[in-house]
Amino acid sequence: MARFKTLDDLEVAGKTVLVRVDFNVPMQEGQVTDDTRIRRALPTIRDLVAAGAKVLLLSHFGRPKGKAVPEMSLEPVVAPLSAALGQDVAFAGDCIGPEAEKLASELAAGEVALLENLRFHAGEEANDPAFVAALARLGDVYLGDAFSAAHRAHASVEGLARALPAGAGRLMQEELLHLQSALGSPKRPVAAVVGGAKISSKLELLGNLVEKVDLLVIGGGMANTFLNAQGVPVGKSLCETEMAETARQILDRAEAEGCDVVLPSDAVVSREFAAGAAHEIVPVTAVPQDTMILDAGPATAADLARRLSACKTLVWNGPLGCFEMPPFDAATNSVAQAAAALTKSGSLLSVAGGGDTVAALAHAGADKDFSYISTAGGAFLEWLEGKTLPGVQALEDAA
Ligand code: 3PG
Ligand code: MG
Repeated sequence: MARFKTLDDLEVAGKTVLVRVDFNVPMQEGQVTDDTRIRRALPTIRDLVAAGAKVLLLSHFGRPKGKAVPEMSLEPVVAPLSAALGQDVAFAGDCIGPEAEKLASELAAGEVALLENLRFHAGEEANDPAFVAALARLGDVYLGDAFSAAHRAHASVEGLARALPAGAGRLMQEELLHLQSALGSPKRPVAAVVGGAKISSKLELLGNLVEKVDLLVIGGGMANTFLNAQGVPVGKSLCETEMAETARQILDRAEAEGCDVVLPSDAVVSREFAAGAAHEIVPVTAVPQDTMILDAGPATAADLARRLSACKTLVWNGPLGCFEMPPFDAATNSVAQAAAALTKSGSLLSVAGGGDTVAALAHAGADKDFSYISTAGGAFLEWLEGKTLPGVQALEDAA
């Protein structure tokens, strides 16, 4: 289990606490369109306010590559943040230097401020010691609360945790606790559902999972690559033919590790890649040459639901089909709903995260009943790969 200090172990009353949050939220034309990450940051902010700390929030937004890009300002986050928090939030137009220092020095106990996008300075991504020092000057204590950015060895994620007394915020604690219960020391059998387009982006993840889980369900475009590797023709489906050997190695490794790999047995195929396109259901061994697989079939979905009912733990990453284009969302919907129902009945612990996953589960109406949904995309994947996340390591080293 990750060992780090939390805000209960650090002296925060009357202190200026620099909190690294992840407000890299979906935004359109200067409006936040999904405030999940803002709401998930509230427990830490509220606990600090209650403890009489001066709260200075740090975040990146987008990838401005070391220059001030007005469209990537964090200022549009101030209004939804203060509405969610129920108190005013001050803002400084730079995260270091005179403006940030003035704001920091004027904060009273229990007040909250947000600083401008860290990535407007090249020192952030470079983890430049001078930039770390300029940030450290603003406060007394550091809390890492951006699990979703913990895979980046950036100044505000890694360097700053080594420059000030440091600990984990509530969201970081919660994310690590749930990930630990899902893969660190899980109740068995453990299943993983891994979907998405390409195995080339999830090789390390699959390699790590076959060693850790009892059942590995492969869906989405990736499944086609595995079917092709086993000599099953997949017609015009998305397929990485050059990955066939790699796919076979993963299957061999799974067999050696006693991990049961499940590929679709039937598929929903279409001649057209569009919502509502004409489609048919075929066994995967009979995919017509001029069609593409856009979803797993109903027999596969039913089989997966049955298999999950025998499991105690589930980790889910990626959709089973083209869930954005009904009716090719059917397998993702029904298996996600089955997992949600098992979770609700108390027989399954279910943890999901990464990329499209949250959108797919929300589309299925299953997200509310999962045990835990991570706020992380890339960091969740790196965690599933078994990698040490620099932002977590730095907090552990500070303990
Ligand atoms: C994310 O949204 O995945 C995190 O905020 C990290 O952003 P990045 O991929 O630009 O580092
Ligand atoms: Mg990312």
